[in-house]
Amino acid sequence: MSKKSNGIDPKDIVIGIVNLFKGAISYTYYAGKESKYLSRAGKVNLLLFFAIAVVWSIKNTHFWTLHYFWPDIFTQQFVRNVGMMSWFAQFLPLGVLFFAITVYILGNRSISKIEGINSGFKRAGIKNAIGKHPFVKELTNLTPFRQKLLIDTEGVPAEEFESKRNYIRSCVNSQVEAIVEQDEPKFIELFLTKKLLPKKIAYANVSGKASKAGDFVVGQSYGRVVTQNLFDLPHMLVAGTTGMGKSYFLRQMVLNLLENTPNLQVFAIDLKEGITMRPFKDLPNVKVVKEISEASEVLEKIRAEMKERFKVLEKEGAELIDPVKHKRDPILVVIDECSLLYNPSKVSEIGKKAAQKAIEITDEIAKLSRAACIHLVLGTQKITKETVSTHIQENIEGRICFKVTSVQGSAMVVGTKIARDLPKIKGRAIAKFGVDVDEVQTPFIDKDEIKTKISAIGKRFEGKKKPHQQPLISDISYQEKSDKGDVADSSRPKVGPST
Ligand SMILES: Nc1ncnc2c1ncn2[C@@H]1O[C@H](COP(=O)(O)OP(=O)(O)O)[C@@H](O)[C@H]1O
Ligand SMILES: [Mg+2]
Repeated sequence: MSKKSNGIDPKDIVIGIVNLFKGAISYTYYAGKESKYLSRAGKVNLLLFFAIAVVWSIKNTHFWTLHYFWPDIFTQQFVRNVGMMSWFAQFLPLGVLFFAITVYILGNRSISKIEGINSGFKRAGIKNAIGKHPFVKELTNLTPFRQKLLIDTEGVPAEEFESKRNYIRSCVNSQVEAIVEQDEPKFIELFLTKKLLPKKIAYANVSGKASKAGDFVVGQSYGRVVTQNLFDLPHMLVAGTTGMGKSYFLRQMVLNLLENTPNLQVFAIDLKEGITMRPFKDLPNVKVVKEISEASEVLEKIRAEMKERFKVLEKEGAELIDPVKHKRDPILVVIDECSLLYNPSKVSEIGKKAAQKAIEITDEIAKLSRAACIHLVLGTQKITKETVSTHIQENIEGRICFKVTSVQGSAMVVGTKIARDLPKIKGRAIAKFGVDVDEVQTPFIDKDEIKTKISAIGKRFEGKKKPHQQPLISDISYQEKSDKGDVADSSRPKVGPST
């Protein structure tokens, strides 16, 4: 072989090949440590390349191709000699080369992402007491635009990552969708995404994602619609600065629940003249309460019902009220702007007493009613001891937080300052259910649409007695008609509105 032929220095080729192998080795090093680096697309690519290599090497075609381009290097004699060897020996160099190219390209992409994030942590000054920086332990491609990173925190608390969220975002050129603490405190998960959430989501486009009794849509998150089940919750707190979408959220949630849940009884306490919940007021299974004194009466009745239900449970040795078996309807108590109830600014002595009673009862419901199929959803501008008692706070796991102005406010509701860092978009919120934290755009529904939906729900009760006109709650003599006209059954999936 001549030293220099056709202007190509074989040394360059050797260096090129060595580099490819170096890439392959460094990739294999990472991939060997953490096997999840390769996305499914990556694996398919690899297989495809391998297949092409196999086909191309049949009848020594690959060397004849080289001979065609570089006849001086890959001489006819050389190719013939190679052709005398076994097919495997002929194929081996090509297979290895293709493999190296593929893993180099794919691996390099993952490695540069990982190294970008690791160096991002350094630049952001995220480190533990002895100056060690957190690092990426595992990278998983969830979808083409979403990735999950398992981070070894080196003891740095999740709050630290939360507070450097924007920094991380610019270092990795992706949105930080969520930072999720793991059971094992050493690790956190970081979700990255290339996509941005829409600024408005129509109720009609997402409400269908919740279809079982008790299901409701929380909102559109990155790449998925977040839903929850009221019966699993069992209570929820909805917080956020005025004007960001709390009341709209509560309203569409009640609507969604009514659509999905047969025989659901709703008590909507709305002391702002009942404006939010007004559209529901004519439904027979919804009671809208506008006055403090009435609110405390209604809560008292719900407490009495709760005690009745405990008696039923005790008698039957059961743990949970089953709406069908025990003939007790699921009950939802929604209180919008609950501070108006708990901490009324200017009321009479009677009003104060009523407020005190309301606090006591909601405390009790929050603490005890999990088994009784009675659910509490509270809306409030901020959470302080005065607006929401600590008992209630401790007993409500489900949290929705629209944008708030202070770090403390955000921390009170979702545990970190993440809700303060939300963009100022109406309907944008942090949804925290247990360890799951999502940024969501909550569904929006306008007045006319809500009226149509509600009148469809109302049709299910035609000819039936109004359950909320005395006597209350325990009276389940009414039964909601389903689409097909038979008796609805709470345990059965969706009894949709007859639209
Ligand atoms: N999910 C949403 N998407 C888009 N806009 C919304 C959404 N929710 C509320 N809005 C807009 O924000 C305004 C305030 O919402 P509202 O629920 O009354 O806020 P809050 O109860 O938090 O004070 C509404 O008039 C509505 O136009
Ligand atoms: Mg409101």
